[in-house]
Amino acid sequence: MKLALLGCGTVGSEVVRLLHDQADDLTARVGEPLEIAGIAVRRPDRDRSDLPVSSEVFTADADALVSRDDVDIVIEVVGGIEPARSWITAALRAGKSVITANKALLAEDGAALHAAAAAGGADLYYEAAVAGAIPLLRPLRESLHGDRISLVMGIVNGTTNYILSRMTDTGSGFAESLQEASDLGYAEADPTADVEGFDAAAKAAILASLAFHTRVTVADVYREGITEVTASDVASAAKMGCVVKLLCIASRDDNGISVRVHPAMIPGEHPLAGVGGAYNAVFVQAEAAGQLMFYGAGAGGTPTASAVLGDLVAVARNRRGGASALTDSAYADLPVQRMGDV
Ligand code: NDP
Ligand code: HSE
Repeated sequence: MKLALLGCGTVGSEVVRLLHDQADDLTARVGEPLEIAGIAVRRPDRDRSDLPVSSEVFTADADALVSRDDVDIVIEVVGGIEPARSWITAALRAGKSVITANKALLAEDGAALHAAAAAGGADLYYEAAVAGAIPLLRPLRESLHGDRISLVMGIVNGTTNYILSRMTDTGSGFAESLQEASDLGYAEADPTADVEGFDAAAKAAILASLAFHTRVTVADVYREGITEVTASDVASAAKMGCVVKLLCIASRDDNGISVRVHPAMIPGEHPLAGVGGAYNAVFVQAEAAGQLMFYGAGAGGTPTASAVLGDLVAVARNRRGGASALTDSAYADLPVQRMGDV
């Protein structure tokens, strides 16, 4: 099965590494090898010799790569609205499955992308778009599909959580902490999206759409970022036994739904107060299931690539004939160690 990878930055380069390092396992799980047909980047001549892939696969012509007849699956990890929207739409309409981590695009125009997928009879998967490595969208759109969700609340932006954690724990300044978050690959290409809450608002729109089975766009989300949060706010919160976190809160009651993103003071003993660094955590309240909590690495190349590869296995198996349930062939023949042997 042939893949077109659009983007080879923080996330894309880790997708390439994992595809290489886990090739045998992936082949076993899918039932055939996954091969990179081409990688579209802005600067194809840049030295990427650290990646386990031939320099010949790089191209600046993403349109041509997406439209190649031999490409079955497109992975979009460039970001932004255009040209990502045109590439994804063209791929889906041509019946190619698409995996994307592009929350900005999904929150602006998700309905049109889903329509293109339906028109082309193709899959559109985007687990990596919200909360990095944490399996959250699949539970909302599959496992909890028979339940009624009333609340999705938590921390969904790793960069701002990293900044606020550093300000709280070490007294580091805002600008210096943001620079660290960028250096670690957590921040968006334009970190304004993180610190002004646009990224969290996009994720909130996606979560609300899936949780409440309705169409919520980023324009429907009330948004405040953390640029107005000062060192003295953080210190005052600490004196009261609280921490400051950027929260995403999507709720539904008899009057309708409300979706918002804003900084909030949280008591130190609350489970969200202990979520540090670029980690994310999300509570889901459902009528029958009760309260569920999802926690893990919310940003960074490798955790996000893990979510992309999970989607990749799912769509590749779908293309091979809906083999989505585990079969015996999906298990490796590993020796079982018993307590006495360890
Ligand atoms: P980067 O900025 O690190 O990488 C972007 C890649 O896209 C680069 O390889 C760049 O090429 C390429 N690119 C940019 N413009 C074009 C263009 N016009 N044509 C072809 N290629 C282009 O971004 P990230 O990897 O951090 O993020 C990618 C996506 O994943 C975004 O949607 C982001 O929101 C999302 N995401 C990111 C996470 C993270 O932790 N970083 C986590 C979850 C989602 P070149 O290398 O030549 O510059
Ligand atoms: N910039 C994003 C964040 C990347 O910091 O959460 C993960 O979506």
